[in-house]
Amino acid sequence: MATVSRPLAYICCTLALCAAGLSAAQDKDPTAAAIEQYRQMLADGNPAELYELRGEELWKTKRGPKNASLEQCDLGLGPGKIKGAYTQLPRYFPDTDRVEDLESRLVTCMVQLQGFDREEVTKKPFGSASYQSDLEALVAYVVSQSRGMKMAVPQEHPKEREAYQLGREIFFYRAGPYDFACATCHSEDGKRIRLQDLPNLTQKKGAQFAYTTWPAYRVSQGELRTMQWRLWDCFRQQRFPEPKYASDATIALTTFLAVNANGAEYAGPAIKR
Ligand code: HEC
Repeated sequence: MATVSRPLAYICCTLALCAAGLSAAQDKDPTAAAIEQYRQMLADGNPAELYELRGEELWKTKRGPKNASLEQCDLGLGPGKIKGAYTQLPRYFPDTDRVEDLESRLVTCMVQLQGFDREEVTKKPFGSASYQSDLEALVAYVVSQSRGMKMAVPQEHPKEREAYQLGREIFFYRAGPYDFACATCHSEDGKRIRLQDLPNLTQKKGAQFAYTTWPAYRVSQGELRTMQWRLWDCFRQQRFPEPKYASDATIALTTFLAVNANGAEYAGPAIKR
């Protein structure tokens, strides 16, 4: 696939420019300035667009045992309405009597409208060099339809507020072999591991930046990654058991992060190291 070779080109040409950025930086923290410059250059040609295109095609193609497209999928704003839908997710859905994030809702639509088997759809949600994930492409397409719009995740329904509280609890819950919580790595300003900033997710600014730039195309992995993947990977870094894809715990955490980002402009799918 084209995405495999393109990131290499980005890295090669940006490394030289990045070094130039380093010496030219006037900022107090030249490394931060150089990383910022590197990010901006990467954003000029984001391979996430290829995923968006594939996702759009998947959305509009009749598939599954019921031979239906996803064009009647209700992401919270009514059947087929995807413009801005991502800025209001996760949210409560009466038909499933559950708070759903984008990914669990897409699974719901694939099961209800297209007749796919839930286990089958969620068995391998994350793509690799040898496997393309339909869910990742669909996510890329849907979120691209919210770019530039303000995050406005609802907290009206009791189950929405419950999900936020549960997400908050999980965020601060310490356990595992290192007694880590999400907060251990994400509640201080100015932390960094390798070239990646560790956002302070307990502050408005950090929460807004982090949330509005996911999903993202990861140059280091040559893949578009979703919010469910982001959480899965951080559970792993925390030495917690692997969370189940689109489980209530991951949706609750996403609700916590998303509501904290309310008011910020959505800027995904972004591109990250
Ligand atoms: C051991 C440290 C550690 C723990 C614990 C941890 N993370 Fe992370 N987190 C990271 C690192 C490192 C990154 C940077 C991403 C990378 O390069 O893979 C990150 C990135 C993120 C991001 C994306 C930030 C951005 O701007 O791109 C989010 C959101 C996030 N973590 C949420 C969580 C949540 C929620 C938890 C708890 C389930 C958690 N993290 C636990 C280390 C941690």
